Amino acid sequence: EKGGYKHFMLKEIYEQPDAVADTLRFGVEDMPSVFGMSGKQIKNIKKIQIIACGTAYHAGLCSKYFIEEYSGIPVEVDYASEYKYRFVPSTPGTLAIAVSQSGETADTIAAMKKAKEAGFKTLAICNVLGSTLTRMADHTFFTRCGLEISVASTKAFTSQLAALYGLAVFLGFQRGVLNSAQFKKYSTEFFALPRLLENTIKNTAEAVKKTAKKIYKEKTFVFLGRSANYPIALEGALKLKEISYLHAEGFPGGEIKHGPIAIIDSHVPVFVLAPKDNLFEKMLSACEETAARGAKVIAVTDKKGAEILGKKVFALVKIPEANSFLTAILNAVVVQFFAYYIADLRKCEIDQPRNLAKSVTVE
Ligand code: F6R
Repeated sequence: EKGGYKHFMLKEIYEQPDAVADTLRFGVEDMPSVFGMSGKQIKNIKKIQIIACGTAYHAGLCSKYFIEEYSGIPVEVDYASEYKYRFVPSTPGTLAIAVSQSGETADTIAAMKKAKEAGFKTLAICNVLGSTLTRMADHTFFTRCGLEISVASTKAFTSQLAALYGLAVFLGFQRGVLNSAQFKKYSTEFFALPRLLENTIKNTAEAVKKTAKKIYKEKTFVFLGRSANYPIALEGALKLKEISYLHAEGFPGGEIKHGPIAIIDSHVPVFVLAPKDNLFEKMLSACEETAARGAKVIAVTDKKGAEILGKKVFALVKIPEANSFLTAILNAVVVQFFAYYIADLRKCEIDQPRNLAKSVTVE
């Protein structure tokens, strides 16, 4: 059943190109029906409220960057467990989006209930049709990534990101923020995601494994990213905590100087997600600042970034070139590989980490 892979997690990492291809098995013309919104409804959206937990929350946080840029709609992202117990202004025209692999997470269900009570229109991005969440929502976008067995979520995450990216492009076009040429460009890139993911897997697995061998005995790890890559840094840290029980933290690249840099020394490897985009120079400084404190810097970048970072860092992992937002989805695969190989070298129970369950059905 593991199809020759040592763990379900590894199998599911490798399944991502197919999982995302299945999730995106629709055409541009089908977008209104897959996202369940008419042109009029879309024009009336004033705010998007995303609610989710754990890895699904990271997908939501990442999508804030592209939904806001492409559609102009303000996006707020809350942990479902926080949303449920805080005061929420009942802003008219709010679309609440719950993101969940299982559709059975108690916190997310409770937050969804609150959003419905506030009178918000609701959309579930979910991998299990017929789950509690999908029965509550006005509309469901189904991530067709298949059964996810490993407790640590991987393919569900990239499928959620793909769904949210598609939604961003669709909303942007419907609201006239993106013109036809931009819509065409972004949707073409978007539908090429499975191929980009395939290339990412092919080109990074060995490099990551090799690097993991050099650092797996360390006890604290830091992940840095900016813009859409910041939530991927958070996700890298979460994955590592979950399956290797190590201390890992994710920060926005620009925040490190405001405190976290104090923990950096030669025993704290730093993963820097640094595609060659408008923030590359900033990430380059993060590499230099942490390397100056002795950190082994592992930079994840593309061909152009590698030419500049080459000799400055401890290790390089090269992803394919893509637009800045899509690099976040590709980098998700790289941080999953890191967590996986480090946990494997430490002989951890990868598919069934201690203290965790696949679906958290209590609040
Ligand atoms: C991370 C993980 C958890 C879940 C979270 C939400 O690897 O598995 O953080 O992402 O509990 O679960 P769903 O998506 O089922 O609502």
